[in-house]
Amino acid sequence: MAKDLTFTCSDCGAASAKWSGRCDACGAWNSIVEDAGLSSGPKKQGLGKHRGKSIPLTDLATQEAEPPRTQSGVTELDRVLGGGLTKGSALLVGGDPGIGKSTLLLQAAARFARNGLRVVYISGEESNAQVQMRARRLGLEKSPVRLAAETNLRDILTTLDQDTPDLCVIDSIQTMWSDTVESAPGSVSQVRSCAHELTTFAKKRGMSVVMVGHVTKEGAIAGPRVVEHMVDTVLYFEGERGHQFRILRSVKNRFGPADEIGVFEMTGKGLAEVKNPSALFLSERGEPAPGSVVFAGVEGTRPVLCEIQALVAPSPHSQPRRSVVGWDGGRLAMIMAVLESRCDVPFTGLDVYLNVAGGLRINEPAADLAVAAALVSAREDAALPREAVIFGEISLSGALRPVIQTENRLKEAQKLGFTSAIMPRAPKGTQGAGMDLREMQDLAGFVEQVFGAR
Ligand code: TYD
Ligand code: MG
Repeated sequence: MAKDLTFTCSDCGAASAKWSGRCDACGAWNSIVEDAGLSSGPKKQGLGKHRGKSIPLTDLATQEAEPPRTQSGVTELDRVLGGGLTKGSALLVGGDPGIGKSTLLLQAAARFARNGLRVVYISGEESNAQVQMRARRLGLEKSPVRLAAETNLRDILTTLDQDTPDLCVIDSIQTMWSDTVESAPGSVSQVRSCAHELTTFAKKRGMSVVMVGHVTKEGAIAGPRVVEHMVDTVLYFEGERGHQFRILRSVKNRFGPADEIGVFEMTGKGLAEVKNPSALFLSERGEPAPGSVVFAGVEGTRPVLCEIQALVAPSPHSQPRRSVVGWDGGRLAMIMAVLESRCDVPFTGLDVYLNVAGGLRINEPAADLAVAAALVSAREDAALPREAVIFGEISLSGALRPVIQTENRLKEAQKLGFTSAIMPRAPKGTQGAGMDLREMQDLAGFVEQVFGAR
């Protein structure tokens, strides 16, 4: 009998009976691929009353011991993991090619090995010699990490079964193949099946597994979203090619807070921790210039100061350019619309460029006011005071909304030598950290007070 073929969306993993140009479930275009499908278990058998064994149910109050964690000693990494690597957890690390995933994981593997874990590093992309060469370059050749260059999942699981390591790094999940699935390595069903086998094995044996995942052009981990659902923790390793900063960001973590970041610097000897990212991101700032603003941001639990730059110039085109690096383009359009309709600052006929210096990506709405300030400052050719930081969310009405962790932002700004903050009304009882707080109620008031009569 011909095998049932199904079609699967490579974005969300939804199955359908026929091919179509657009996924009905998630709306992605051109993401449906042919797929052998996951077996849904034995067919034509109902779940009768007596087929399973009964499982013990417990209550919420009885305390179960927390699974033990191991620290790597790299503070930036441990924080992102939620305080160390949890025994028996499954992690997925995504990032652009060449960003430094293999370097990061080899360094982490060596640190965990030094702290007593038995670590196995399996590379499906590079030969043992290549991994050893990188280890030498990183000064890690004496570290007790064991290596293999292999892509056959059955052989890998057999080895892990005999060897029982505490941590296994799989570089990368797209190169692995399982002989129970007929499609090629890297296809949706292979990636899903290999990730499933590895996570189940890890949970059963109390081994932690770290899988490297390639990302697609759009920046999501290649293979369906279901892989992200299978693992406990999803980390993204980001950075701009031309910059040496790298940011490890947790987008999902069952063992700690999500959205936490760790900052690293790529050096000739591998990745080095950056303990004070604000100082680093502001290090290239020169004299106060029009269009340059210091934003007091927060990533996870950690305050990060960075510079937002804008350039506004008359456009030679009938359709002016709006170009953004490090921030959301839709949000920029919204802020320009608010400036135009509530504050009478039009951008018609002007090209607008916005850049977050240092290769950082900001997702916080708290950057709204800093972006607006950069835009107006660039448009009016008027620099902002050098000693001021700016933050605040803008609503469509033009009102300024308070943001989370105000005190944390102020403290960090004070530490870096800033003396005043332009911000929304702070909640009562906010400690100003000795800063001069210039609280604003709405965007129109802000434009008038900071840039004066125009
Ligand atoms: P790699 O870890 O191979 O990236 P990925 O696994 O994400 O594809 O890192 C590749 C880049 O890192 C490469 O361009 C060289 C650079 N690099 C350094 O700058 N210093 C180093 O010590 C190492 C090992 C790599
Ligand atoms: Mg690699």
